[in-house]
Amino acid sequence: MSQRTCLSVILAAGEGTRMKSVVPKVLHPIAGLPMVAHVVRAAEAAGAGDQALVIGHGADEMRKATQKFAPKAETFVQDKRLGTAHAVLAARAAISKGYDDILVMFGDTPLIDPGALAAARQKLAEGAAVVVIGFRPPNPAGYGRLIEKGGKLTAIREEKDCTDEEKKIAFCNAGMMAVAGKHALTLLDQVGNNNAKGEYYLTDIVEISGGQGLDVVATEASFENALGINNRAELAEAEGIWQTRRRREAMLSGVTLIAPETVFFSHDTEIGADTVVEPNVWFGPGVKIATGAKIHAFSHIEGATIASNCDVGPFARLRPGADLRQKAKVGNFCEVKQATLEEGAKVNHLTYIGDARVGAGANIGAGTITCNYDGYSKFFTDIGEGAFVGSNSSLVAPVAIGKGGYIASGSVITESVPDDALAFGRARQRTLPGKGKELRERFASAAAAKKASG
Ligand code: UD1
Ligand code: CA
Repeated sequence: MSQRTCLSVILAAGEGTRMKSVVPKVLHPIAGLPMVAHVVRAAEAAGAGDQALVIGHGADEMRKATQKFAPKAETFVQDKRLGTAHAVLAARAAISKGYDDILVMFGDTPLIDPGALAAARQKLAEGAAVVVIGFRPPNPAGYGRLIEKGGKLTAIREEKDCTDEEKKIAFCNAGMMAVAGKHALTLLDQVGNNNAKGEYYLTDIVEISGGQGLDVVATEASFENALGINNRAELAEAEGIWQTRRRREAMLSGVTLIAPETVFFSHDTEIGADTVVEPNVWFGPGVKIATGAKIHAFSHIEGATIASNCDVGPFARLRPGADLRQKAKVGNFCEVKQATLEEGAKVNHLTYIGDARVGAGANIGAGTITCNYDGYSKFFTDIGEGAFVGSNSSLVAPVAIGKGGYIASGSVITESVPDDALAFGRARQRTLPGKGKELRERFASAAAAKKASG
């Protein structure tokens, strides 16, 4: 099959009014990736080398987004929504380039399993002209029914055009189809719009093919695969199914999730074996975690790279550009952004490290802040290997602390500190014997005098 060429035509011209959104429906994300991008990925995984995206509503936004998630895809605008066959024909220029297989998919069906698509292509390779992916939804209302005669698929009837008898059929059209490229345009051009909705139905090519003695086959996919998203409740349902699949995959690959249902992955999260993730952890896009790391409860991590045996959280926030090398540690209520923590560096409590390097083995005391921003520009803080930054220090960037530098607690460091130097950036302490008692007596008599005068 690998020698067969394949184009996927992904229909995404619909408005998606039920999402009640200014954002086109298919750009709403599942696991941080637009749902239509999931469809593109599935098509690619099933061997579709080229993608044609049929857009309409929100075309400019769609084009811009497509550039990001599928830069090679060609977009085609369907000006008027005259039905699914009409929509496929918007990509006529792509189809007519000549492909062995055409996969027609919907942009709002993000959970489709590439295996189901590959199985449909296999049927084309075996000689079928049209392959319909069917499924058995718990409630078939609203779906096209697969009409079979003598074990052969003869037609797909849309709900609105079904007889009462046909409505009882449980086997439905999931929406995805594989069509032999050499027949695709001829078949699509024969579709008319004589039906209850007055639309050009893609599904009519089943009956047309049968009438011409071409082979039509139905395959079956699970309900989850074909879940179409129309509103935000279904969006959340799809997200839930996606997360459940991903958690299982993570666990089977050697990751411990203590409470898997509370851990949320992104489409691109990479996580190594023997890493333990405690409850309530969120992974935004761009996270890579090596083996044997510990991610403690309630951590929020995005765009971060975490090397093996690092320790993160609880309640840590790692933002884009956080780069933790082996055995680095980021403890509770710490935020790290665009900063490298070299091997074994420790940032344990209540700290902000942004635009910085923390050298190997350095220890950053509680409440330390890298003051990286002056309201206009960002500046870099460089902390050398083995440095010690005392608690509650402010490091005003640009500034560097040399190897083994030692910063006294409560310092405001505005000038660079050489290797092995000790720096105080605070007022010297004064201790006045007996003054505490004297002060207390003064305040007490002042308060008594005030009370007496009413
Ligand atoms: C379609 C199928 C139905 C199947 C169901 C599965 C047809 C005629 N019907 O019905 O058999 O059970 O999906 O969910 O194909 N679109 C366009 N341009 C158009 C019309 C539609 O781009 O002119 C896109 C929509 O944005 C959507 C997809 O095609 O992504 C499906 O269209 P929709 O109107 O939702 O079809 P259904 O009535 O759900
Ligand atoms: Ca639909």
